[in-house]
Amino acid sequence: LKPVKVGLCGLGTVGSGTVNVLTRNAAEIAARTGCEVVVEHIGARRDNPHCDTSNMQVSRDIFAVAEDPNVDIVVELIGGCDIAKELVLKAIANGKHVVTANKALIALHGNEIFAAAKEQGVSVCYEAAVAGGIPIIKALREGLAGNKVEWLAGIINGTGNFILTEMRDKGRAFEDVLKEAQELGYAEADPTFDVEGIDAAHKLVILASIAFGIPLQFDKTYTEGITKIAKADVEYAEQLGYRIKHLGIARRQQNGVELRVHPTLIPEKSLIANVHGVMNAVMVEADAVGPTLYYGAGAGAEPTASAVVADIIDLARGIESDADHRVAALGFHADKMMDTAV
Ligand code: HSE
Repeated sequence: LKPVKVGLCGLGTVGSGTVNVLTRNAAEIAARTGCEVVVEHIGARRDNPHCDTSNMQVSRDIFAVAEDPNVDIVVELIGGCDIAKELVLKAIANGKHVVTANKALIALHGNEIFAAAKEQGVSVCYEAAVAGGIPIIKALREGLAGNKVEWLAGIINGTGNFILTEMRDKGRAFEDVLKEAQELGYAEADPTFDVEGIDAAHKLVILASIAFGIPLQFDKTYTEGITKIAKADVEYAEQLGYRIKHLGIARRQQNGVELRVHPTLIPEKSLIANVHGVMNAVMVEADAVGPTLYYGAGAGAEPTASAVVADIIDLARGIESDADHRVAALGFHADKMMDTAV
């Protein structure tokens, strides 16, 4: 079997999940790709007791991974923007494909990163950046590619949905549930990103860029979080037959695409009102297929690793067949882009 060598940067929740899935499912992955996908090099400041890396090369300097001539694919799971951006651009400059789960990085710097990747003829894959384990990027880019998308709306922050669910079901206090979400590895390093809607906005602009063929435009997104929601709001909504859900919404308008993230009242019988805990769901309304709904775990080690490994497999298949098709799939037609209007 042809070896495909992965360099994995960051050994936190998602990093350890990725090592575990790649190790546990090695035989299935080999059968699907025709390749032996190996973790060649790990870059991490510290070990993680949740995964066994004793047979793997580990560097404390993550840049050693991007410089390693043996590595084919650099997987960026360190989060944040500054070092992550430097790492990804370094990997691209060195001719490596990149997989990332970093929504902030793609939302804020994706346009520049994709241009660099195109220049180098390498791919940047980011399925894990949106809605954890739900393959929503692939659904929009591939499954719905023949459609004109009218709108999409989704619960795309697991931490926020976990908080709202626990407040409603158990009457728990906001801060208490947030603390638990942090302990479970759902929340961002800075949890204000979750509760102020910033994380959902990052994800929304990524979804919209693919669904509508527009550039990534985080600064044009109306963003409101869940911090102002009190227990009483949840109870009143309940009495009126509604549930409060935090949604990201992107809608085609005459002059562009409207992007917004905020709490909404949803009739309690609708499907999306019954998405509980850390689960995410994205609804897409498109002209040919009509409505479709995608549901699954939006955060956590192995659900997110599932998406990271799917991207690694995609790239391994391309490497195995010497194909170049993924690069083309990422390109936008700049002259045909619509702007956003809020
Ligand atoms: N903090 C994020 C969430 C992690 O809760 O959805 C997954 O992107």
